[in-house]
Formats: sequence, structure tokens, C-alpha cells
Amino acid sequence: MSNLHDDDTPEVPGPSLWPIGFAIGIACLLVGLVISVWALIVGAVIAVVFGWLWVRELTLRHATPAPAVAEAEPVAATAEPAMETYDRGMFLGAATIGLGGLIGAAVTVPSLGFMVLPSFVGDGVKTSDVDLGPISNFPEGKYVITTYVEDPDIGEVSRRTAFVRNNGLTTDGQPSFSIVFSRCVHLGCPIQPNGPADGSPLEYAADGKPPVTLQPVLAASFGCPCHGGLYDGEGNRTAGPPVRALDRYEFSIVNGNLILGRLYSVGEVLGNGASAKISKYYHAYPGVHVDGVERFLYPIPTPGSRS
Ligand code: FES
Repeated sequence: MSNLHDDDTPEVPGPSLWPIGFAIGIACLLVGLVISVWALIVGAVIAVVFGWLWVRELTLRHATPAPAVAEAEPVAATAEPAMETYDRGMFLGAATIGLGGLIGAAVTVPSLGFMVLPSFVGDGVKTSDVDLGPISNFPEGKYVITTYVEDPDIGEVSRRTAFVRNNGLTTDGQPSFSIVFSRCVHLGCPIQPNGPADGSPLEYAADGKPPVTLQPVLAASFGCPCHGGLYDGEGNRTAGPPVRALDRYEFSIVNGNLILGRLYSVGEVLGNGASAKISKYYHAYPGVHVDGVERFLYPIPTPGSRS
């Protein structure tokens, strides 16, 4: 007895494993966007390799004529129409996949760009060699509210505030300054020193540069008016929603003048003044954890050195 089912049913290819590998690669890539650049690269490689194998398999399937159908029909009568059907099917399949890909890209690329790019282009705060004047303008052990114009080309709109404390000399005889940025590390509101002004303000202007204003203040802590964030005199968070210690500036001394350097973020400060140990990290946005297990939720702040 003949087996009609076996004769009439074309052989169907088994399920492919390449889509599963492709999906794993995409998942790895998305996780990498959050936790690590290396996971992102590995995910991208897996996705590209498995995606290519998948597409290649589909292409080969389409390119291979189905033997059961070809045997069942008269070859001479159907050769031409079969070729037309095959081309149209390929075209429609490719058009569907292409259109789907374009629509998917139009939806996801802008969102991904807004999500990832800010981490690579910075937050608009740049400091490069701003001359704050002679170090004798900064009394030892006291914070000085220091305002400076970050970019003279755009003028006063770029005026920023830093809190500068002269710590005297380190144990190896080097000048030590704590220079704290005035932006709260919760959501970025301007923080204020908790204490009254101490003495008259000073002004200093380097050659042809906008003036730097200096106001000594009696303050052993800082506060943020927005949501009640509090920081101690070293900038460590003591209360409220901020997620890390206050950001600080690098500095250098050139011809007896204090020069502002780059901003960096701080996990915590152990000790105080010239002997403080600072957990330093690349500058991160307000709200971003730079240490502890929470840092794995943020891909960009990379641990720097403890100094
Ligand atoms: S912005 Fe400072 S506590 Fe919220």
C-alpha cells in the first residue's frame, strides 16, 4: 500500500537554532549597554555572527528548489511560471524584512541615541586652566566661595561656583586644596555652604580674563535647598537623597597661582584636609552611583584611582 502522506508532503527543513543565538546576542548587547562596554561588544559580535548565519540559511533554503514539488508536476509545462513565483516570493520576503527593519530602526535608533550618547559627549561642564589667583588669597582652613567664568567667549552665562579650601601643606610639603563643585549630586541643584560670610569679598582678574570673585565663608557643611541633601565639610553625603560625595576639581599651582583643573566625581572622602583619602572617579552625572554594587547600573563612570 502506498503512503500518500509521504508522497504528497514536501520535506520541511527542521527548526533553525540561529535565531536563538541571534536573540542571545541582542540580549547580551542590551545588558552591555547598562553594565559594561565589553558585554556590549561580545553581544554585538554574537548577534552579527548568528544573524549572518540565519540570513544565509534562509537564503539557501529559498535558493534550493523543493524536490517533492518539482517531481510531482510536469516539468515542461510549469518551468516558466515556477520561476516567476519564486522571484516574486523572494521580492516580497525581502521587502517585508527590509521595511520591518527600517521601521524598527526608525523607532529604536533615536531612543538609543538619546539614552547612550549623553554619556559620551559630557554634561556641558568643562574646566580648563582657569586662573583663580594667588594662593595667598585663600586663607588656610576656610572655604572661599569662588565664582569664575568658565568660557570667556560666551561670557557671564558660563559663570560657575566652586568652594575652595586651602588645606595648607601635605606631609610631603605639597600645597593641598579641597575644591568642591557647587552642583548637588542628587539632581544638580546649586548647593550652599551652611554658614555666614567671613570678611569682605575679593576680586581677581588674570590678564584680559573675566574677574574671579572670592568670598570667605564660615562653613563646616553644605546643603541643597531642593530636596534637603546635606554634605559634611569634605563633601560626603550625610543626609537626604544624594547618591555620592560632592564632585571636586583637580588643581595645579603655577607661579604661585591656583589653577582649576578638570572635574572628577568622588565616591567618599576618608579623613579630612591635606590627609584625606579620596575615592576618585571619572566625572559622572548627578544621580549616578560611582561605587558600590549600584555602579553596575551605570555604564560610563569608570573607577579611577584612590588618591
Ligand atoms: S537636587 Fe539636591 S537634594 Fe535634590
